[in-house]
Amino acid sequence: MNILVIGTGYVGATTAILLAKLGANVTGLDLDEGKIKQLQDGILTFYEPGLEPLLQEQLQEGHLTFTTNAMAVEQHEIIFICVGTPSRYDGSTDLSAVRKVAERIGQQMSSPKLVVIKSTVPPGTQKRVKRWIQEKQTKPISFDVVSNPEFLREGNAVYDAFHPDRIIIGSDTEAAGKQVHALFNAIDCPVVLTNPQTAEMIKYASNAFLAAKISYMNELARLCDEIEVSVTTVAEGMGYDPRIGRSFLQAGIGYGGSCFPKDVRSLLSLGAELDTELGILKRVVEVNHSQYRYLMKKVKRKLGLLRGKRIAILGLSFKPETDDLREAPALAVISELMEHGALLKVHDPVAKLPREMQFPSIKSFPTIEETLLGAHAVILCTEWKAYVEGDWESWRRLLTEPYVFDGRNVLNASRLKSLGYHYEGIGAR
Ligand code: UGA
Repeated sequence: MNILVIGTGYVGATTAILLAKLGANVTGLDLDEGKIKQLQDGILTFYEPGLEPLLQEQLQEGHLTFTTNAMAVEQHEIIFICVGTPSRYDGSTDLSAVRKVAERIGQQMSSPKLVVIKSTVPPGTQKRVKRWIQEKQTKPISFDVVSNPEFLREGNAVYDAFHPDRIIIGSDTEAAGKQVHALFNAIDCPVVLTNPQTAEMIKYASNAFLAAKISYMNELARLCDEIEVSVTTVAEGMGYDPRIGRSFLQAGIGYGGSCFPKDVRSLLSLGAELDTELGILKRVVEVNHSQYRYLMKKVKRKLGLLRGKRIAILGLSFKPETDDLREAPALAVISELMEHGALLKVHDPVAKLPREMQFPSIKSFPTIEETLLGAHAVILCTEWKAYVEGDWESWRRLLTEPYVFDGRNVLNASRLKSLGYHYEGIGAR
């Protein structure tokens, strides 16, 4: 089985490696020469634990190759579309990269193809992809377009790729659906075979629901602060009910990343386009946007004037085990502190401070200890293990003032208080 994976970003590279591991001959295609050269050398272009050894293994075994040759379409019967689908300024999804790929497939097609859309796209996109392919065909050749959305979590991609909770396949024909299903035969999990529009909706509805769970807990956390209740214990108590579940109830400074913010916005934009009110989702976004400000209010209340105060920021990435800074709440926290004239000392185990944030008033340090030295306060923005399990007892001596603001509610509040810290979480105590 020859499979072409177009787009070798996060989803594309992981999909190519997974399919190769499952026994297919896979070619990853990208127009970015630098990226392809790195992948050919067995180097990932992003940080993802455990994925690079698999990439090297599949390259060595000869199941996986990478190319920049756009003509590769012709030599493959199955084509996965894994290109980016960023947000436009109005929240709708920019499908221009998907369209380009679809048109190229149409132009180059000289034999029947099975096209699989892995990129996250709004409901209705599969129909448009079919049309874009058809419009560019020079002669009528049969093809199928199947929706097969991705549910990988950054930082857990290897586990999620081989142990998905479900596989969703949206196809107009039973035969094409079965063909895609066969690719994942070795994976044991529930499979939902449905139509393409439903498959596309399942992906959006899932991400939006998880985002809603987070915003719900974040909003409740503010009330918990008022009534002196721990939102973490509330979440624990709620989570034992299997109808609720424990996951995604962790309150903090809000969700980030390349998926939740973009997908919720896209769903809202689709609702607006179809004159369908999605009030709950609107509130999900509002709570998320104001959540880091809620923490900032606490910081200002405790520290007073921020000008000239040295503040240590622990964690930049939008979550642990990734170097991804897209929509990371830490960046919003940093911007606001800089506006108030604070002096920032930042640390992250893998993520680097973006170029546009490199100012004299902000400095990155290689160790946690150097970051904390002389700080008037610490703000934990990402729950990396090194922070959660850190040596807070000896770190106390490094600080000028012992203020700790736990933006992820992951530190042991009572222990920190007993060590002499002034601890503030978000609805945590
Ligand atoms: C998310 C989904 O979990 C994946 O299933 C999906 O495939 C992916 O989007 C995608 O659409 O490609 P990801 O963005 O990697 O995956 O990250 P999550 O682990 O879902 O976390 C998202 C954000 O929510 C992070 O900022 C995290 O810190 C935050 N979060 C998560 C909370 O604030 N509280 C929680 O309880 C859980």
